[in-house]
Amino acid sequence: MTLSIKCTAIPEDSGIDPKILCKMNIDGRSGVAQAYLLGQLSRSSKAPKGFGEELIKVAFAELEVAKRKVGCRMLRLDCHDELIPYYEGLGFKFIRKNEAGTLNQMVIFI
Ligand SMILES: CC(C)(COP(=O)(O)OP(=O)(O)OC[C@H]1O[C@@H](n2cnc3c(N)ncnc32)[C@H](O)[C@@H]1OP(=O)(O)O)[C@@H](O)C(=O)NCCC(=O)NCCS
Repeated sequence: MTLSIKCTAIPEDSGIDPKILCKMNIDGRSGVAQAYLLGQLSRSSKAPKGFGEELIKVAFAELEVAKRKVGCRMLRLDCHDELIPYYEGLGFKFIRKNEAGTLNQMVIFI
């Protein structure tokens, strides 16, 4: 897995749940919210089932430290349709499709 920082453009007509929108700390001028990005999450086929979830817990622990040092409480990931239920089970919420319509942007607040 990788962790980075990503700008997330939030259009005014995004349709995102207002309860999520109000936590995003969106910049009023640019309409952009900063988020940590969890990328390239993958476990080896030799690793036991559930190891991916363990990796996500490691990511949360790292981000707790980052949040204390530099702020930013939103974590985003982009996934294909078939993985939405997996991430929802871990507490992530769907916010929108990416611009190409190929991936789903999902967020959780640390
Ligand atoms: C995503 C991943 C890290 C999750 O690892 P994990 O926590 O160990 O969980 P598992 O791999 O056991 O998958 C848990 C459940 O998620 C769902 N799931 C995982 N991958 C899926 C896929 N490609 N399609 C549909 N469902 C999937 C299934 O319900 C699965 O349970 P099941 O195998 O009993 O049906 C791992 O499946 C993986 O490395 N996948 C390949 C890379 C990938 O797609 N990464 C996602 C990037 S956003």
